[in-house]
Amino acid sequence: MRHRFHALCPYFAMFPESFAEQWIARLTKPGDVVLDPFCGRGTTPFQALLMGRKAIGGDINPVAYCVTRAKTNAPAPAVLRRRITCLENAFDSNQWESKRRKLPPFFRYAYSPSTLRQVLFVRDRLRWRESDVDCMLAALVLGSLHGECDKSSAYLSNQMPRTISTKPDYSVRFWEKHGLRSPKRDIFALLRDRVCFRYETPPPDSRATVLELDFRDLPRRLAHSTNGLRCVVTSPPYLDTTNFEEDQWLRLWFLGGPPKPTYRRISRDDRYENPAFYWQFIADMWRVLGCTLALNADVVIRLGGKNLSSRSIVDGLMDTSTFARRKVKLISSYVSRIRGRQTEAFRPGSQGCRFEVDCHFRVH
Ligand SMILES: C[S@@+](CC[C@H](N)C(=O)[O-])C[C@H]1O[C@@H](n2cnc3c(N)ncnc32)[C@H](O)[C@@H]1O
Repeated sequence: MRHRFHALCPYFAMFPESFAEQWIARLTKPGDVVLDPFCGRGTTPFQALLMGRKAIGGDINPVAYCVTRAKTNAPAPAVLRRRITCLENAFDSNQWESKRRKLPPFFRYAYSPSTLRQVLFVRDRLRWRESDVDCMLAALVLGSLHGECDKSSAYLSNQMPRTISTKPDYSVRFWEKHGLRSPKRDIFALLRDRVCFRYETPPPDSRATVLELDFRDLPRRLAHSTNGLRCVVTSPPYLDTTNFEEDQWLRLWFLGGPPKPTYRRISRDDRYENPAFYWQFIADMWRVLGCTLALNADVVIRLGGKNLSSRSIVDGLMDTSTFARRKVKLISSYVSRIRGRQTEAFRPGSQGCRFEVDCHFRVH
C-alpha cells in the first residue's frame, strides 16, 4: 500500500515517489544521507526515511517546509487527537465573526461562514513553526484547504483545484457563473478524519532535518552535518513554469501570509522565471553542491522548462556544473514526456512544460 503521508498535501511541479525511490535504492544504502535542497512537498526526504536512510530537506517556501517537516517529524496520532479536542473546546464561534467579515469577498464565496470562522481560529492558534504537533495539524489543513469539494468531503472550500490556488477574482467569477456554493464543513471533525486516514500507514521511526531557507544558505546551515553527504535527489524550479508564491497564495495565507496573492515576498530571487538569468540560478545550485557534498557524491536532477529543448537542459546543467569547482561527470540522462499536464489542467491554453529530463551526475 502506498504510504498515506505521500499525498498529505499536493504541490505543483511535484515528482512521484517512484522517482525518488528508484534513485535512492540505486545510489545509497541504509544509513546514508540523502539531500533535497528544493524539497517541495518532501518526497525525497520522506522516501529516504522510509528506506532507512537519513534525510535532509530544504525549501524557501513555508508551505513546502510545513508539509515536509510534518511528514518527516510526525507526532503520534493520539497526541494529535488530544490537541484537536483542546482546540475544539477553546473555539468560540462568535469571536471570529468580525474577522470573517473583514476578509476579501473571495473568502466568503470560498468557505461557508461557520467553516471560515473555524479556519480563522485554527490559523490563529496553530504554532506550526514551534511544535511538531501543530505542524502536522497545519499540514493536514493545507491538504484540505481547497480542492474538488464535489468529489470529496475532505475539502473545506468551494470547488477549486487541489494543486494550485486559483486567483481571487477568477475564482469568484467562476463560482458565480456556475452557481457554486461553499460546503459546510466542520474543521475539527475533518482533522480527526484526516489523522485516521493518513496514519493508516505508520510513520517512519527516524526523523529528517528540514530547513526553511534559500538554498544558497545551505553550506552555512549544514556546516556540521555534511560529512558523508553523498546523494542528492532533487528538482530545482523549472524555467518559467510556475510561481510558487502566487500558485499557493491561499495555503500561504493559512500559514500567516496576507489574504491575497503576493509576489517576491518570500523570495526576491525570481531568476527561474527569466531565460536570461535562469542558468545563473542553476550555477548557484552547483556552487552550493560543490561546497556541501562529500567526495564521489551522486546528484540526480529532474528538470524541465518552457521553451527549453532536452538538449539545452542537459547542456545547461553540464555547462553550469563548472561552478561546483569540482570534477563533475554526467553518468546518464533520460527524457520523459509529462503525463497529466498539471499546467494545462488548471490553466487552459497554457503552454506548460511538455517534458522533463533526469540527469545523473557524479561529483568527484
Ligand atoms: C520543482 S519544485 C520541487 C518539487 C518537489 N520535487 C516535489 O516533489 O514536491 C522546486 C522547489 O524549489 C523551491 N525554491 C524556489 N526558489 C528557491 C530558493 N531560492 N531556495 C530554496 N528553494 C527554492 C520552490 O519553493 C519549490 O518548492
